[in-house]
Amino acid sequence: MRVLPGFISEEEETALLAELEPVLKRMRYEFDHWDNAIQGYRETERSTWSVGNQAVLGRVRAAAFPEGGRDAELLPSAHVLDLAAAGHIRPHIDAVRFCGGVIAGLCLVSDAVMRLAHETHKHLALDALLQRRCLYIMSGVSRYEFTHAVLGGEDSVWRAQRVPRRRRVAVILRSRPPPQPQP
Ligand code: OGA
Ligand code: MN
Repeated sequence: MRVLPGFISEEEETALLAELEPVLKRMRYEFDHWDNAIQGYRETERSTWSVGNQAVLGRVRAAAFPEGGRDAELLPSAHVLDLAAAGHIRPHIDAVRFCGGVIAGLCLVSDAVMRLAHETHKHLALDALLQRRCLYIMSGVSRYEFTHAVLGGEDSVWRAQRVPRRRRVAVILRSRPPPQPQP
């Protein structure tokens, strides 16, 4: 797991949000599915971007999905996840059927804390501070063997300091899953 603080500028954050807000603002936050891993969210997918935003996502691509590597191929659209101030993401591992070996997220609007915990050895855990405008890159062991969660409310603490969780928007790029074996 790598976190690159300040990966985008304030201007780039503003431009990404300008393109996303009109879509997000029309949607309602979902809180009610008790069994969902994610509570208090709205989401969309996006495959076409303004020229400037496309360039920013190109930088994410270059940083996280090295050309020629096995995870060079991305899913065709970015996943935009808007978490309400009262929302959170419970520990989970992204399904291997739908996502390959790299998950890269640009964090917008609010700082947040992501908790990584080993799937079976739960004492192996760490909290990552995801500051607004950072990029995180999850691959290898952190992608396949550790669950990840975004802490909400009172739990949003990093090194004994509260990290106020306001509304947070993540733009997440994922590599394509490897071809599925045919039954
Ligand atoms: C997810 C997820 C993390 C984030 O959507 O599967 O874990 O940064 N999102 O919002
Ligand atoms: Mn996830």
